[in-house]
Order: sequence, then structure tokens, then C-alpha cells
Amino acid sequence: MREISDIDRMRSWRDGLWADCSVGLVPTMGHFHRGHLSLIRRARVENDQLAVSIFVNPIQFDQQEDYRKYPRDHQRDRQLAQREGVNALFTPDEAELYPSGYSSYVEVEGLTDCLCGAARPGHFRGVTTVVSKLFNILRPHRAYFGKKDYQQYRVIQRMTRDLNFDTQVVGCPTVREENGLAMSSRNQHLTPGQREAALALYRALQRGRRMIEQGRRDPAAIERAMRQLIDEQPQVQVDYLQVRDAVDLSHPGEVAGEALLAGAVYVSSTRLIDNVVVKI
Ligand code: PAF
Repeated sequence: MREISDIDRMRSWRDGLWADCSVGLVPTMGHFHRGHLSLIRRARVENDQLAVSIFVNPIQFDQQEDYRKYPRDHQRDRQLAQREGVNALFTPDEAELYPSGYSSYVEVEGLTDCLCGAARPGHFRGVTTVVSKLFNILRPHRAYFGKKDYQQYRVIQRMTRDLNFDTQVVGCPTVREENGLAMSSRNQHLTPGQREAALALYRALQRGRRMIEQGRRDPAAIERAMRQLIDEQPQVQVDYLQVRDAVDLSHPGEVAGEALLAGAVYVSSTRLIDNVVVKI
């Protein structure tokens, strides 16, 4: 495995690959858990060469404290990447991606106005900017994103289409712990009691799913029932809990087609998100 931290050397690695070599990219912020490994494993089997990037992207954090606290473990990540058969590990630092005088950003309108976009101003602008830079540097045929960050997946898919990147955006299923808690780097901030409490989000989404499966179509009633379950758990505060159209993320008058049930909660100061998609 090559570990590369500068853009020119990363481009040379890419330019040096044979003509019809397929290239997969898994963009990450490091601190790998089983969710990342599932993306890496899928990308490994679907591509001739696999690049993984690790960069805790400062411009997608709306709070400095969250950026500072974001877990990092480079040694362990490097070992895991090596073991999973990654060919190139791209580990730029902030000055490499955002040198002084940096002033260009990529923004997707509409899809970013709601859910995490509304709750975290500037977050998706940071994500789409860094992902476009990675796509330009690595020119991957396929790039892999977890559907736990469902809105991010849709926003990147739209950006890729709108800006004509020659990359297929592959959305991968959320990996969960045995009890249902979605894997997240942020879970490590939780005490065992908080982990248990955090399950309220998963249970609320499952309650919403069951209601739709039983024929309920009123988004407001489903949102109320989901919220009720979380309100019973004093350690968990709702940031948002909504029913949306799973394709364009609009607020449906009535649940139809593919529905997204999406939630974000705070457990103490740790923000967790999760979602389920229900096909009708
Ligand atoms: O999902 C993430 O870890 C990040 O948002 C991403 C896509 C690597 C961009 O920094």
C-alpha cells in the first residue's frame, strides 16, 4: 500500500495506472469502524485499484469543538487499510487541500436546505467541496458512501450528475451494532448508558416504518409518534425527526413511493443521525 499525502504524488499514482484499470475511491474522515470496512470491502471487490482518503475536513464542521473532538487514530486506520488490500491511502493535511488564499466552494441547492443542511449551516458546502476535490485528484470510476448519511449520499449523487463527474456514486447499506445502533465514529463518545439511550432513535424510526407498513400515510402523525418515543427518554434530545420523500427529500403531503424517515438527536453533546427508507 502506498501512503501519499500530497496532491501531485497522488495524481502521479493515478496517472501511472494502466489504461482500462477501474479505480474505486472510499472517502473517509478516518477512525474506521465496521461501516467504513464494509465500504472498503465492497470497493475492493468491484475495482482493480482502490484508493481510500482520510481527511477530517474542517470546512464541513459547523462547530469548532466538534471538529477538535472528532476521533482520530491514524496508526490503526493505516493497519486496517493495509489489511483490507487498499492500494493507495491518501492522507492530505489541511494546508494541502486548503492552502492560504483558498476561496472556491461547491454548493448543491435545494437538497441541502432541509434536515442536516438546515441544522448545520455550511455543512454540505464543505462536504461537496472536499468530495469534488477528491474526485478531481483521483478521477475514480466509482465512489462509495454509507447510506447512514442518506442526505449526504443524495447530495453527492446530485452534484456528480450536475457537474458531470465521470464517477458512479455507490450508496451502501448502514451497518448496525447487534442492538440496532447505527455505526458511527461519534458512538465512541457515548458511555454504556448513553449508548442504550441512543437506541431510542433507532426504535423511533422502526415505529415510523411499522406505521407506514400498516397503511398510515399522514407524515405529521408518523412524526408525532416517532417523537413521542424519544421524548420518553430524558437523555436524548431531538434535533429533527421527519418524514421526507426519499428521492428529492421534499416534505410529502402524504407518504407515497419511497419514504425517508430521518432523525438527528443529541445524547448529551454528541449528535447522532440515522434513517430508514420505506418502499410502499
Ligand atoms: O462521510 C464522511 O465521512 C465525510 O462527510 C466525507 C464524505 C468523507 C467528506 O469529508
